[in-house]
Amino acid sequence: MDESNMEINMFKTGIERISTGISRLDELLDGGLPRNSVTLVSGTPGSGKTILCFHYIDAGLKNGEKCLFLTSDERTESIVAQAKELGFNFQPAVENGQLKFMYLNLDSSNVHKEIENEITTGGYKRVVLDSLSPLAEIPVWISGVHEIIPSERSMDTKAYPIGSTPATRIHIRRIMSILNKGNCTTMVTSEIPEGSRSLSRDSISEFMVDGILLLDLDTTMDRRKLTIRKMRATKHSLKPQDIEINYGGIKFL
Ligand SMILES: Nc1ncnc2c1ncn2[C@@H]1O[C@H](COP(=O)(O)OP(=O)(O)OP(=O)(O)O)[C@@H](O)[C@H]1O
Ligand SMILES: [Mg+2]
Repeated sequence: MDESNMEINMFKTGIERISTGISRLDELLDGGLPRNSVTLVSGTPGSGKTILCFHYIDAGLKNGEKCLFLTSDERTESIVAQAKELGFNFQPAVENGQLKFMYLNLDSSNVHKEIENEITTGGYKRVVLDSLSPLAEIPVWISGVHEIIPSERSMDTKAYPIGSTPATRIHIRRIMSILNKGNCTTMVTSEIPEGSRSLSRDSISEFMVDGILLLDLDTTMDRRKLTIRKMRATKHSLKPQDIEINYGGIKFL
């Protein structure tokens, strides 16, 4: 990748910026993502969410940062292979421990704790969670004032069904609080169902994050767009930007 991977200190605002790995996107973001922020990368299937995360990880690796890629895809080798197809060679960083792929076992009652342990002890500067959607949909049980997420002890507790708004809200709040515990800057993906006007699959996370990058496809026109919908402490355009995906990843036109 020939994109700039420099971290840019914004003396103007005092907010340190982290490169997204795409120099044009950094410019549009007034220097990059605010340090320690959580950015939601939303879009319909195939819109380029995972590829945007590849750029973000690549920039971190080139900057000597420790990176964590949390995935609900069991085949982590296949993610490394997909990245390689696009020109991102993550294998050496995986081998030397600079990049860790962590599979999120959604059937484990400890999944949140596992993420929390990794983030609070791993010393990661950059974290990707790809994707938030299945994590936000696991069942939740609440016992008195204590949230048990998720728990097998459902007999003596009140259960919320999968996908109910309270369950999703509790999950997302918990995940955001875990991400905020680390000294890291995070990209979290969410799949928007085709035709939905919402900014995430759960319709809640958009209100809890610091920024939203929206990826879009216009299939009839054979065009792709990226829109900065929100970014804390940043003056930015709301205009959808034309992008392309090719070998090398996302390119602004
Ligand atoms: N080498 C390539 N050249 C051109 N386009 C590519 C290449 N590799 C992938 N793409 C495009 O990128 C899309 C996949 O992008 P990506 O995996 O980032 O999407 P996504 O938004 O994460 O999708 P999902 O919601 O399914 O996870 C493909 O559908 C294809 O259109
Ligand atoms: Mg994806």
